[in-house]
Order: sequence, then C-alpha cells, then structure tokens
Amino acid sequence: MTQVTNTVRFVLDGQIVEAQGERRTTTVLDYLREQLHRTGTKEGCAEGDCGACVVMVGELNVAGTGVDYVATNACIQLLPSLDGKSVKTVESLKKVDGSLHPVQDEMIKCHGSQCGFCTPGIVMSLVNLVQTNTSPVRQDITDALSGNLCRCTGYAPIIDATAKACQKKSALKIDDSADVPLLKEIKRATTPTMSLEGDIIVQPVVRTKKGHEFVSPATLAEVADYLVHHPTTTLLAGSTEIGLQVNKQFARPDHIMYLGNVQELRQVNETDKVWRIGAAVSLTTLEAVLADAYPDFVEVLRRFGSPPIRSTATLAGNIANGSPIGDSMPCLLALGASLVLRRGEKTRSVLLENFYTGMKKNVLEAGEFIEAVVLAKPVVGQVFRAHKVSKRFEQDISATCAAISYTLKDGKLSGVKLAYNGLTPFPSRAPQLEAVLEGKAPADVQAADLDAAITASFTARDGLRATWAYRALVARNLALEFIEEQTKEVA
Ligand SMILES: Cc1cc2nc3c(=O)[nH]c(=O)nc-3n(C[C@H](O)[C@H](O)[C@H](O)COP(=O)(O)OP(=O)(O)OC[C@H]3O[C@@H](n4cnc5c(N)ncnc54)[C@H](O)[C@@H]3O)c2cc1C
Ligand code: FES
Ligand code: FES
Repeated sequence: MTQVTNTVRFVLDGQIVEAQGERRTTTVLDYLREQLHRTGTKEGCAEGDCGACVVMVGELNVAGTGVDYVATNACIQLLPSLDGKSVKTVESLKKVDGSLHPVQDEMIKCHGSQCGFCTPGIVMSLVNLVQTNTSPVRQDITDALSGNLCRCTGYAPIIDATAKACQKKSALKIDDSADVPLLKEIKRATTPTMSLEGDIIVQPVVRTKKGHEFVSPATLAEVADYLVHHPTTTLLAGSTEIGLQVNKQFARPDHIMYLGNVQELRQVNETDKVWRIGAAVSLTTLEAVLADAYPDFVEVLRRFGSPPIRSTATLAGNIANGSPIGDSMPCLLALGASLVLRRGEKTRSVLLENFYTGMKKNVLEAGEFIEAVVLAKPVVGQVFRAHKVSKRFEQDISATCAAISYTLKDGKLSGVKLAYNGLTPFPSRAPQLEAVLEGKAPADVQAADLDAAITASFTARDGLRATWAYRALVARNLALEFIEEQTKEVA
C-alpha cells in the first residue's frame, strides 16, 4: 500500500490514473470527459436527475478478491472522492476483440436507442444491475432504470433488451481481474498519520497553495480532530446535495472532508432493541437493513431519488441538509429516532425531534457532526405506516410525506407519533393531530377533527410542489388511511 498526496489515484480499466493539479470540486464527469476524453459519459442535467452520466464506481471487496460496484451519477460526485477506488465507463465495456457487453448487443438488436444521448447511462445502470442480479424480474429492471430518462425511445425495448441479455449469464460479469491488484496498490491508509508529538495529521488528497484542501480520513478520530481544528469544513457524505451546490451555485468550500472512507461510519451496528446507523451508510444499504422491520419506510426509500442517488446518499446527509421536504425525516420522527452528535471526543444524544431550530437550522455546534442515527426496532403490536406523495412516482421530491407509529391498546390508538414533511419549515411531528388520534378507537376518528387540528397547527402556504389546500387534504387523508386498516380489524 502506498499513498501520495496532492494526487487523486484511481483505477480505470487495468491502469492507475493519477490526477494532479485538479480542483477539490472538479467533478468525476468533468475529469472523465475533459482530461480522459471518455466522452461516452454524457452531461444532461448536471444535477443527478437524468442519468446520462451514470458510471460504475468500484471498491475492493472485504475479502480483497474482487470489486463491489455501485452505479453513481458522475456529474455530482467530486473527483477526489474517487481516490483509492475504480471506475468503469461505457468505454470500459468493449472487449479487446471489439465485442460488446450483452446489454449493449441487445440494445442494438431490440432498437433500444434512437438519438443515443441517454444510452451510455442506461447501459451502465443495467450493467451495474446484472453484476449482482443475473435474473432480474421486470420490477428490478424498471427500478434500476428509474434514474435514467429517455425522451425518444420509450422503455419497452430497453427492458426487453435487458431480459434478453440476461440469457447470456456467463457474459454478464465484467472482467475486472486486472483492477484488483491495482486497487490493493492504491488502497488508502486505514490508520491516521501521527506527528512525533502524537498528534493526528490528516493527509490531504488535494491541497492548494492557499491551504485549501480536500481530505479523506480513514478513522472517526481523524474526522473529529480535523473538525475541531477546522470547524468550517464542509462535510461530504454521498455528495447528492453538495454536488448540486458545486454545479448550480458554484460553491467552492475551502475545506472539504469526505466521510466515505471512514469504516466506523459505514457500519450498521445492532442490539436486540436498536440499529445504530453510521453517518456514511448509504440509503441502498439501509433499504436492506430495514426491509423486514419497516416495509413502508423501505418503500419511501425506494422512491427516494434513484439507485445512483441512493448508492451514495446518506441518512445523515438528508438530516443535516434539513430540507423541509426531506423524505427520511418523517419516518425517523415517527419512530422516535435519535442522533449521536460528536465534537472532538465528546458525544451527546439528541432526539431528531429536537434537532431542528428553524428552516435549515439545527443544534449542531461548531466542529460538531452527526456520527450516527439510532433507530428503534419494532416492538410487538407496533404499527408503522408511511407514504410519500409526489408528482412522479420515482426520482421526485415530496409534495408531502407522512409517517405514523402507534399501538392499539384495547382497540384504542396509543403512543401515537405522526410526522410530516412539506407542511412546516422543517420536517416535524404534529402534536395536535396526534392528540386527536391518541386514545380513540380508529373508527371514532373524525376527519373534521383532523382538519381543525391541521388548520390550528400549520401556516397555510402554497409551495412549488403543491398548493396548501392540496397538502392539507393529503395530510388529513394519509392520517385516516394509516389507521383505516386497523378500523377494519377492530370492527
Ligand atoms: C436527483 C436527486 C434526487 C433526490 N431525491 C430526493 C428524495 O426523493 N428525497 C429526499 O429527501 N432527498 C432527495 N434528494 C436530496 C439528497 O439526495 C438527500 O438529501 C441525501 O440524503 C443527502 O445525503 P448525502 O449523503 O448525499 O449528503 P451530502 O450532499 O454529502 O451532504 C448534504 C449536507 O449534509 C452535511 N453532512 C453530511 N454528512 C454529515 C454529517 N455526518 N454530519 C453533519 N453534516 C453532514 C453536508 O455538509 C451537507 O451540508 C435528491 C437529490 C438529487 C440530486
Ligand atoms: S448529467 Fe443528468 S444525472 Fe448527471
Ligand atoms: S435515445 Fe434519445 S434520449 Fe434516449
């Protein structure tokens, strides 16, 4: 294992690329296109929405014997976060003998491409899918394509092409055998560098003459120490917010710290009562963790962005960003989630419902960060329901998302926690609506009482994604729907 500074090193098709003199905010897409002339990867929206830029990013697997890939949007990922990883672009798929990947072959045969602008991104999303799932059902294919927009062909031939490609199972896996030893060679250090005095030194990946830097520590201790010394550092987790700030608002933070290489933050630890979800755990990983316990939460996550967004986006990033229409928060609030906040060596636990102090404002102090999200496992008899209402089914942010948790005691609603996004400056619980529900048999809950509580609780405000009248109606109807099934059971 070797490490050089001021150089971003990654593996591309059996070669180590050393990117030097790049800005800390250069995107993976710009580097691929402008420096490596991999122009198959397209720029459509530059904000993670269209999928024209999808590439596969790989990391050495735990055993060190192969590469684990995720599909990501190259337009919103920052180049220095690639340090120590590998990339596959659409050009990577062509073999030495000129033959193409089965997905590409079948796209041609099934007429899955017309103008072709979307095609490389679509191919990369599908090739990524078939690396781990060689017998995808139609739903798997449409899920994998939910972040890829095609405006000319229509999706039927693309779905057919995927199904046909999967008949050639032995040819689906891309050959990355040459990449494995190189990934070992450029593997980032997993322990901090220490000075002679015993202080932690966080080695930058990129450092400018002005002292601005991009760091990518490997340990929690480095993260905490660096933030104490550089409290204005921008934390970078999945980059699905930051990437937009860079591309659309031209944000150029002086100090950026990438959390994606910190193993402690990438873990989900569990006891028999709770999960402790590290701040760098991706939403894709979380979907698998919560699948059996909270299917409605997982359905909200399935409709959160698209697979290339969820492959890097984190819960902590969603919470810290604090959008009034952030989708994970209603679920977490209804489940009474808490946050482990850390500054230096000190940690404190804060309930998510006490985290926000205003629109995009929270209780984090200078140098403090979210280390983990603590989520309780369901208890016997607990009902958890959640639903997201948005204009499009996938790849769209909420008009309103609601979530509820309760138990039924003697046929009456008990311990009700009901939370929404889209109604207030930050996602929050709705105590007046909870009071209407608490202690009542579901059949006795009156829509008019919920309407009155909504009027009393919230300031009527039309938004870009919905009018207030619509949101208020959705808020009431979701609350009724969440208890309706119980009404049927009790009756
Ligand atoms: C195409 C697209 C679709 C999207 N769809 C949805 C959607 O359906 N629903 C939804 O809610 N959101 C959506 N988003 C927004 C975004 O994906 C989420 O907010 C995501 O959870 C952000 O996580 P991240 O890890 O990518 O954050 P980043 O972009 O890395 O960071 C976001 C913010 O959090 C801060 N931060 C990150 N980690 C920490 C930490 N540990 N402690 C303190 N601060 C931290 C960062 O400094 C930054 O200010 C979408 C975004 C895009 C581009
Ligand atoms: S260019 Fe549209 S998602 Fe990246
Ligand atoms: S083939 Fe033209 S956008 Fe898809």
